[in-house]
Amino acid sequence: MNRRSRMLEALGVSTEWTLRGAEPVEVEAVEIAEVADVAVVGPVATAPVFARDEVPAVADAPADTGLPRAQRIAAFDWAQLEDAVSNCTSCKLCERRTNTVFGVGDRQAEWMLIGEAPGENEDKQGEPFVGQAGKLLDSMLRAVGLSRQPGEGKGVFIANVLKCRPPGNRDPEPDEAAMCDPYLKRQIALVKPRIIVVLGRVAAQNLLQTQTPVSKLRGKVHEVEGVPVVVTYHPAYLLRTLTDKARAWEDLCLARKVYAERGGQ
Ligand code: URA
Repeated sequence: MNRRSRMLEALGVSTEWTLRGAEPVEVEAVEIAEVADVAVVGPVATAPVFARDEVPAVADAPADTGLPRAQRIAAFDWAQLEDAVSNCTSCKLCERRTNTVFGVGDRQAEWMLIGEAPGENEDKQGEPFVGQAGKLLDSMLRAVGLSRQPGEGKGVFIANVLKCRPPGNRDPEPDEAAMCDPYLKRQIALVKPRIIVVLGRVAAQNLLQTQTPVSKLRGKVHEVEGVPVVVTYHPAYLLRTLTDKARAWEDLCLARKVYAERGGQ
């Protein structure tokens, strides 16, 4: 079987994203070699999605230190961070949420995945990516030997840009993303991943502070908080656009290549 056939076999492009009859890790050496050399892109200097000086004053994190909110959050440990997120009232999304969605997985993972925001199911269950898109994401992760389930593969930590569901699954508004940004940045600092994979336009544009489309962000290595970042399509988009599954596979292979270059195994 040639490389392309093996890749399509691994992708299950015509059906679903599973490895049939092969251990996930068996494909990696071949597929990583297929990823062309890529440019490493420094911090993106294009126009920000939101202006940070427009951020309103907030009342959630304890203010007794006198430090600005983002600085206080940057000093939180996991317990303080979880507590701050679950009690957050910094934007209007708190009014309609059922649960905050903090993130899930191995808090010492070498891989971190970042999505956009909780949807209806995630809001109900308090866990990211639990619907159909989540199933595809889990299959994608399995295909490269990763899993959010302890003991089922190399660990990942999965989080979103927003911790609360936007009504009707609309895009996050700039103030909402700005209020959640210190939480995500603190999660990145606490996990200390070797690689971040960003899922979809909204997550990528907010995290990288750019308005460049995913099609132009993918295939390059970006950087956030000193961690290399690879952008790929959102699994919900891939459910609708099967033809881009092969590109998403290339993105995961690129992420594996960067991970290995940074000492990951
Ligand atoms: N889409 C996301 O980006 N995140 C989720 O948690 C669920 C769907």
